[in-house]
Amino acid sequence: MTQILIDNRKFNAEEGETILEVARRNQIDIPTLCHHEALEAVGACRLCTVEITGEDWNGSTKLVSACLYPVEEGLIVQTRSEGVLRLRQTVLDLLMARCPESTVIRDLATQHGQVTEYQQFTDGSKCIMCYLCVRACAKLGCHAISAVNRGTLKEVAPPFHEHAESCVGCGTCATICPTGHIEMVDTAETRTIWKREFEFVTCKVCGEPLITKAYRDYALENRRLPNDYYTVCSACKKSELSGHFARLSL
Ligand code: FES
Repeated sequence: MTQILIDNRKFNAEEGETILEVARRNQIDIPTLCHHEALEAVGACRLCTVEITGEDWNGSTKLVSACLYPVEEGLIVQTRSEGVLRLRQTVLDLLMARCPESTVIRDLATQHGQVTEYQQFTDGSKCIMCYLCVRACAKLGCHAISAVNRGTLKEVAPPFHEHAESCVGCGTCATICPTGHIEMVDTAETRTIWKREFEFVTCKVCGEPLITKAYRDYALENRRLPNDYYTVCSACKKSELSGHFARLSL
């Protein structure tokens, strides 16, 4: 067990935890964009920057990414020092210039600075190149999208901008994207994403879309699940279960 100070308050931390994990566990707000607890941190957006020092650092300080920096005994962290706020504002200014149409970025900018004017440098894309979508897709084992091109032309796309052959239409990339950049259109029967259309399996009780057929087949093949696993949606499963318990208690 390690003790650290965050914003002048003492907290216990486990070895190997990051500053962000300790802060979040103790309801201390540090803004993030490229971080997701289910994925390994990569420190792409720098929005989570905090200032650190130590008792024996002779007054020197460092700006580090809270999502990556592991805690150590006696660490002193400031989440709202002048340097942190200045850097956060610069990061948000750059993000605003890149993705002015993203409501998430606009809200963060308003919340964390007085960003009122910006110049748009891109064609209105909402992608901030955090690669959460790419990392999540890879973690699921699909590898349907990746970073393509270089420099200002860099973007996330299926190979050769063609149909994402290995995509199963699970929608994780669109759901995890912090800025709503990835377009996913659902109807009662189909989901369209990355230029492909996927048919839904519907819940046999309520008829609501449950999962795409491609994702169901992929999941059944790659996870140890019973064949009828994706036939009833979780809401109906829950109400079936509570009905069952209600009957038992009669
Ligand atoms: S959340 Fe830490 S760098 Fe993006």
